[in-house]
Amino acid sequence: MLPLLGRIKSMILTHPSSFITHLLSHPPTSTPNFSIFSSPLHRSPQGILGSILRCKFRGYCPSTVMANSIKVVQNPDTISYLNQREAAEVDEILMGPLGFSVDQLMELAGLSVATAIAEVYNVKDYNRVLTICGPGNNGGDGLVAARHLYHFGYKPFVCYPKRTPKPLYTGLVTQLESLGIPFLSVDDLPINLSEEFNILVDAMFGFSFAGTPRPPFDDLIQRLVNLQNYDEINQKPPVIASIDIPSGWHVEDGDIIGDGIKPDMLVSLTAPKLCAKKFCGAHHFLGGRFVPPSIVDKFKLHLPPYPGTSMCVRIGKARQVDISSMRENYISPEFKEENVEPDPFVQFQKWFDDAMAAGLKEPNAMALCTADKDGKPSSRMVLLKGFDKNGFVWYTNYGSRKARDLSENANASLLFFWDALNRQVRIEGSVQKVPEEESENYFHSRPRGSQIGAIASKQSSVIPGRDFLHQEYKDLEAKFSAGAPIPKPKNWGGYRLKPDFFEFWQGQTSRLHDRQSSLDFPDHRYFAIRQSNSIAILCFLLIQLPFSTSKSILISSVRDFVVVVYSQFQKSRSDFPEVSSN
Ligand SMILES: Cc1cc2nc3c(=O)[nH]c(=O)nc-3n(C[C@H](O)[C@H](O)[C@H](O)COP(=O)(O)O)c2cc1C
Repeated sequence: MLPLLGRIKSMILTHPSSFITHLLSHPPTSTPNFSIFSSPLHRSPQGILGSILRCKFRGYCPSTVMANSIKVVQNPDTISYLNQREAAEVDEILMGPLGFSVDQLMELAGLSVATAIAEVYNVKDYNRVLTICGPGNNGGDGLVAARHLYHFGYKPFVCYPKRTPKPLYTGLVTQLESLGIPFLSVDDLPINLSEEFNILVDAMFGFSFAGTPRPPFDDLIQRLVNLQNYDEINQKPPVIASIDIPSGWHVEDGDIIGDGIKPDMLVSLTAPKLCAKKFCGAHHFLGGRFVPPSIVDKFKLHLPPYPGTSMCVRIGKARQVDISSMRENYISPEFKEENVEPDPFVQFQKWFDDAMAAGLKEPNAMALCTADKDGKPSSRMVLLKGFDKNGFVWYTNYGSRKARDLSENANASLLFFWDALNRQVRIEGSVQKVPEEESENYFHSRPRGSQIGAIASKQSSVIPGRDFLHQEYKDLEAKFSAGAPIPKPKNWGGYRLKPDFFEFWQGQTSRLHDRQSSLDFPDHRYFAIRQSNSIAILCFLLIQLPFSTSKSILISSVRDFVVVVYSQFQKSRSDFPEVSSN
């Protein structure tokens, strides 16, 4: 029984050496009310923190994102939002009885956008800015913003495919050209915008837009959407800053279908429009510091005060997430029957290679689920250290909870989730310890720090505190300082799960997905392809064709359909290379 039951428990996820270094440089200032579990982990606290910080924020309404300088934070719920008619009316009043001209308002709007961008995205790390301009006022705001960004030290580029031949716009183009700002046609744009730009300013459509975007803007919008779906694969994707309305969104209802642009930043102008309530990015700003009291009174506007002389003001923190509304629209190639490898090990190798090629961080990280003798389950992440026809191997402490579970119940499952590829692989089977010699070999292939860590750690047991682990590690480091071989602790070694079930899942648009599973293989020797949607989990018809070697397809259709494809399970499975991560 853990003595600290009822308190928050924290695991120290350590690569012991870096953990100790971290402790030395950041001694705890107070004793937290946490129990400390010893764990010989393979990652540094910085690594874990790094991954958390690198997590995708888009579309998630994070509550933890901090701007470089938050001057004013106002609860967005107390702020007024305009509908489309009111927004048009405000403009009419400004440019009618209140004597403003459109170019004045555009200048102030563009300046606000540029200052908001500069407030959040520093010129050093986010230097290259592509502004995509539409034919109307929103595009004009973008042109002005590009000019100001140039003067702020950024390197702007402009894509302005449908130029408006009015003096206001031609004048802005001349101003930008005189600064040497490149204008790129749609064809000039690089295939992968991530390679060239750090910021994409979406200045295509504003609040007066209605309907469906036409070429070339439909395609440009889709390119911004695709960027978001494929981010983190190779490099940091550019951030998207939308001016007033994320292009393609409904001015009042927002991203109705959920497959539109999800900007990181929204700069609302004059007052936020209703769709801004649906904005889930990290940075919502208000710009257009020209709204006179008469308009505030007439429309009963509640707007945050602008700080000092600033042209923009942050509106609230990122909105709290409505978890039920969180959804990603997976865009990925179809996983068709004809692409399925008959041998699930080959299929796994293919997908693992894809995950490696996509540059995913730790594609060998997998959730291991075990259950004790009473069937009480528990899950945790472990690192795959090799797989071949004999099974999937990971290493751990034989005194840990997972080890206890496995000694009572050899059934376990593994789960890989390759987020950026919209893929999941489920593997189930029974588990055995790997031979001692194999564990020895692997143990000695690890860095010495990890070897010492494995000895220092009494995994899944409660220890008196960080200092205890720290001291233990230091003592062992001293003991083995002369480069003496470090003996593998007896309670440390590998496990191998021999699969009897695989399922390969590929997410598709609109919550459809393709699933391919090997059911009860190798005895029944077939795979099933299931297509389903998440609302109705289908009637899954499974016919156990007795040892059929021919292929047949069964389609059952009740609203969704299931395709069961029988395929010969290849008897001669080839060997697979070991996963080479450590
Ligand atoms: C990405 C990741 C990889 C991990 N890899 C391992 C591993 O390979 N072996 C291991 O024992 N623990 C690993 N852990 C730590 C486990 O998740 C878990 O905290 C620890 O093994 C104790 O689990 P237990 O008490 O359920 O046995 C990893 C954690 C993470 C987040």
